[in-house]
Amino acid sequence: MPSFDSKNNATNIAVYLVLLPLKIYPKNMSVAKKQYKRVTVKSLIDMKANGEKISMLTAYDYTMAKIVDGAGIDVILVGDSASNVMAGHETTLPITLDQMIYHASSVVRGIDRCLVVVDLPFGSYQSDPKEALRSAIRIMKESGGHSIKMEGGKEIKESIKRILNAGIPVMGHLGLTPQSIYKFGTYTVRAKEEEEAEKLLEDALMLERIGCFSIVLEKVPAKLAQKVADALNIPVIGIGAGNGVDGQVLVTHDMIGMTHEFHPRFLRRYLDLYAEMTGAFENYITDVKSGDFPNKKEQY
Ligand code: KIV
Repeated sequence: MPSFDSKNNATNIAVYLVLLPLKIYPKNMSVAKKQYKRVTVKSLIDMKANGEKISMLTAYDYTMAKIVDGAGIDVILVGDSASNVMAGHETTLPITLDQMIYHASSVVRGIDRCLVVVDLPFGSYQSDPKEALRSAIRIMKESGGHSIKMEGGKEIKESIKRILNAGIPVMGHLGLTPQSIYKFGTYTVRAKEEEEAEKLLEDALMLERIGCFSIVLEKVPAKLAQKVADALNIPVIGIGAGNGVDGQVLVTHDMIGMTHEFHPRFLRRYLDLYAEMTGAFENYITDVKSGDFPNKKEQY
């Protein structure tokens, strides 16, 4: 795979012009970064129509959002996985609407280009459509996020419709839905049996029909995920759902190796930050204890 030369812009443009019509993308180049000044829900639907894969990562704070957006990501998800990653809870259930708004508003201040999707947390939309709409409006008004994500299919159809009718873009989430972990009992692959696979496909078609702009499919067989993606015009973004879908999402702290206890098969680690950071902290402690830090140049 060819790659971009970070110093030579003329070469980069030549590589870009030759390879783009062939849909061969140099490894270190964000194609979307060139094409979309700001990513919108419409851009994502266009990307699917043009066969361009969608990249999505999580962020929960300003600094991470700034780095991820600057790298050219298409979508930042302010996931309720903040409950695990940022707060150390075992599940996503404890995080509150106020906490999600805090995380999302920090992310929004860090980005210039990507679309920001914010999870509606557990307990903020399940009881009735009016409550769901109130929660979605709070997210949009108080965080400045661009859209929301909700877990579930036909059980929450009326709530999704009400939110969509208010002009708020909704991303669905099917397959493994961590807010229902106590119903499933485990985090294993979902929809391996035909009955559950059929329901998942029906739910996905329904979400598209009522107006969702995209769907996350979590931890389902790759064959089923591809079937769902092929059946829909809206993009299907997978996590543990194989390569036949329209885009991929990972939890950033997992893919950069800041977390290290979690080893699902679908996770590709691009860095081992846990080891890097531990080494840096150990060196700092050694330098402080030995009196090596600060030296003469590091003082006033
Ligand atoms: O909360 C989250 O991070 C998510 C992703 C795993 C899709 O929902």
